[in-house]
Amino acid sequence: MGAAVKQVRKRSGTFAGCALVAGAACMLGSPVRPVPRWVLWSAAGLGTAITANELSGKPVPFLRWSFLRMVMRSKHLATEWQVGDGREAALADHVETHARPGDVDDVIRVVDGFCRHYSFLINVGDEKGAILDDAVHRLQPRRLLELGTYCGYSALRMARAMPADAHVYSIEFNPANAEIARRVLAHAGVAHRVTVVVGTLGDGGETLRRLRDEHGFRAGSLDLVFLDHAKDAYLPDLQRILDEGWLHPGSVVVADNIRFPGVPAFHSYMRDHEDTLWRTTEHRAHVEYQSLLRDVVLESTYLGHSA
Ligand SMILES: C[S@@+](CC[C@H](N)C(=O)[O-])C[C@H]1O[C@@H](n2cnc3c(N)ncnc32)[C@H](O)[C@@H]1O
Repeated sequence: MGAAVKQVRKRSGTFAGCALVAGAACMLGSPVRPVPRWVLWSAAGLGTAITANELSGKPVPFLRWSFLRMVMRSKHLATEWQVGDGREAALADHVETHARPGDVDDVIRVVDGFCRHYSFLINVGDEKGAILDDAVHRLQPRRLLELGTYCGYSALRMARAMPADAHVYSIEFNPANAEIARRVLAHAGVAHRVTVVVGTLGDGGETLRRLRDEHGFRAGSLDLVFLDHAKDAYLPDLQRILDEGWLHPGSVVVADNIRFPGVPAFHSYMRDHEDTLWRTTEHRAHVEYQSLLRDVVLESTYLGHSA
């Protein structure tokens, strides 16, 4: 990303806020108004709040322009799993220009900085990422499966925390996201420890077959699963993993976004099987890159078949 483009991206919130105020002010002063006065006053108020927030140096996350842009494009995000303004590809460019090659700590630092100062991204983030790190440190897993790679941030964290001979298989159904993640992982020097597989466990068996035939998934071979993909797929995909018999007693499933946006079916399932099939710890945290909205991460240990 060129320096000028970066400055524009960084200041885009201030520009957008000012444009909103100016546009509303012009229309309020004009004799012909296409929208009611209260709408224009609201727009002017919002523009002022956005501008002040961006200039404050410590912006409130929900008034950040990059966050509001993401909310406005939430339909695109929900269907394509990219915000639609090029921010995911911009992250890979940013990492390649600013992070020390081969230094996973530095790449994680640069990704977090990008999300806080340039564009909000739906990574697990640093606060919930630390919960994932702890689980990996404690368990020392050899084979890890992630559902939902996005730009590779959580895969980087797992690769950093896992033993030297361990391997992450990360499933991502958007090929463009998979490519971005591969660039980020390669820059961090962990591409040989993380395999990004384009697909989804719900594609009729093709991805499950590839994990079996090409990546050596066997009964009892999977130590840790990180669920961070479509929320309505958590439970069916966990059931597919159980049906394959890949888990062993002691395997751990870590699941993000239990409170926000919420995964009620998965949460109820874990409650219903507490102490028979699973033993679950609830970790309270916040939605990524802010401290207002709360979230919960579940860490569930598989106990084996119930009697
Ligand atoms: C919240 S993001 C993952 C963030 C990532 N784990 C991180 O913390 O860096 C969700 C990702 O899951 C992918 N996804 C959504 N549904 C999926 C599915 N059924 N199978 C595989 N990937 C899926 C989306 O394309 C998106 O990239």
